[in-house]
Amino acid sequence: MSLSEAPTATSNVLVPVLRRADPFSRGLTDDQEKQLLEFAGRIGLSASKSHVRSMGHRAIAIEGRCVGRLAGDLVDLVLRGLCVRAAFERLQRPIEILEIGTLFGVNAIILHDLARSLAGSAKLTLIDPLEGYYGRGNRDVVTGLPISVENVRFNLRSNFVCDGDVELIARSSIDPATAELVGSKQFDFAFIDGDHSYAGIAADWKFYTPRVASGGFIVIDNYRDGVYPDVDRFVDEQIASTGCARFIANFARTAVFQRTA
Ligand SMILES: C[S@@+](CC[C@H](N)C(=O)[O-])C[C@H]1O[C@@H](n2cnc3c(N)ncnc32)[C@H](O)[C@@H]1O
Repeated sequence: MSLSEAPTATSNVLVPVLRRADPFSRGLTDDQEKQLLEFAGRIGLSASKSHVRSMGHRAIAIEGRCVGRLAGDLVDLVLRGLCVRAAFERLQRPIEILEIGTLFGVNAIILHDLARSLAGSAKLTLIDPLEGYYGRGNRDVVTGLPISVENVRFNLRSNFVCDGDVELIARSSIDPATAELVGSKQFDFAFIDGDHSYAGIAADWKFYTPRVASGGFIVIDNYRDGVYPDVDRFVDEQIASTGCARFIANFARTAVFQRTA
């Protein structure tokens, strides 16, 4: 638009829109808010609409301080936040969070921020080879930025996560060296978002679910999102089984289980 075309008080004002780079949403619909509150009730958490909204706003602010992106919709992130809150309300102590598949660390940092705000501190164990997005080079397909230890560390520092709160294991979740580093840790919340093949998710479930403490949450991403049929098949099998975790609920792209005794 040249200067001579500048809008006047009487003309239509053009509002430029910067479209999202990925297909994900950073909003919550009325229906999603309702479903989130129903979910909170199901996990024994008392939460209000304003809790849910403030978690969403805080998450977006944190993502804004990070390089890279949160790879998912806000609704799934808030649902994970509700699980973290429920874990804290039950345990009343700093909680241990595990994430398999970290990418830029944005999800982990948001959950850490929430857990730290509730308990004063929180611990993160992050596992990701940080070698690229499913073999498509070491650059993120959406942002074009390197998926690297340096970028995860930058995001952790930019969001005041102290070094002592984080164990970053830059390896595959099934690497024997990872198992050794994880050792005898017990987690209160585990987010499985790494290898989405059937063998990959099955291996993560088998190794990490027993490392979630009784009553802790196991959250699986990309369930019934139309992209990862192997995730659907594996989760459906666990829903039908009577293993060491019981199915709680699914909505949006998330399936939630709770570790049984
Ligand atoms: C969808 S992204 C994770 C997004 C992140 N959880 C978030 O919410 O922003 C998937 C990540 O899983 C990692 N990954 C793939 N296979 C893995 C494995 N076996 N162990 C750990 N991470 C793995 C990839 O390197 C990639 O960074």
